[in-house]
Amino acid sequence: MNNDTPSREELVFLITGASSGIGAATARRARAEGWRVVLAARSLDRLQRLVEELGGAEHALAVRCDVCEWADQQHLAGAALERFGRIDVVFANAGFGGPRGFLADTPEHWREMVLTNVYGAALTLRATIPALKHTRGHLLLTSSVAGRRALPGSMYSCTKHAVTAMGEAARQDLNGSGVRVTLIEPGMTDTPFFDEPPQDALQDDDVARAVMYAVSQPPHVDINEILIRPTAQAG
Ligand SMILES: NC(=O)c1ccc[n+]([C@@H]2O[C@H](COP(=O)([O-])OP(=O)(O)OC[C@H]3O[C@@H](n4cnc5c(N)ncnc54)[C@H](OP(=O)(O)O)[C@@H]3O)[C@@H](O)[C@H]2O)c1
Repeated sequence: MNNDTPSREELVFLITGASSGIGAATARRARAEGWRVVLAARSLDRLQRLVEELGGAEHALAVRCDVCEWADQQHLAGAALERFGRIDVVFANAGFGGPRGFLADTPEHWREMVLTNVYGAALTLRATIPALKHTRGHLLLTSSVAGRRALPGSMYSCTKHAVTAMGEAARQDLNGSGVRVTLIEPGMTDTPFFDEPPQDALQDDDVARAVMYAVSQPPHVDINEILIRPTAQAG
């Protein structure tokens, strides 16, 4: 953080994929700890409901952003800076999955998934790194257990391996800037990611607490990766 150390209430936590699941749970945790939050996703109505839940416009900002669109990402970073004047944490979390099996999914869905999970995350980094360098802030990316081990026939697993590489590439790129980089690698988590609720899964708040653990470390400590499975998950 800058020398004129800001209070927690001044710090700003930006989250993509904040309209549900892990992103929304992290927004709730961050607000509970006093952060101001910037919530990004395509579903503006859901984001606006979350802003109200989190105390209104003084503490939270909803920004419609399709992470695949560079203009949206630039608008997101600009809107955060215009409203709150700084960005201290960026959680590049937007993403989705698809069926396993290289013949199971459509080429169009693959394209959307690769663009969202990989290109979209890279655009979030690109749009926010200047602000993070200014605050000596913290960048987090949601990879997955599927980004650490290949799953059979899973294009999703391929996208998350790319996100894992992106986190380490960004960490090395930002070394010396004071910006910390953390990969969050959840196992099965009960969110709308799944059409049917999974059994014995993590809850979204379990992952949110891992995010808050990483960001609560002192500035000289960079938690590089958190791989977190439900106790019942074997693979
Ligand atoms: N659930 C799991 O078991 C699990 C495990 C490991 C990793 N993950 C990862 O965790 C992250 C969050 O997923 P979740 O489980 O919390 O699922 P979720 O509840 O479905 O949340 C996904 C979020 O991503 C947003 N999103 C999707 N496409 C987007 C786009 N083009 N632009 C902007 N936002 C977009 C969605 O919002 P809109 O639809 O409103 O845009 C939503 O807020 C994802 O990266 C996922 O791959 C999940």
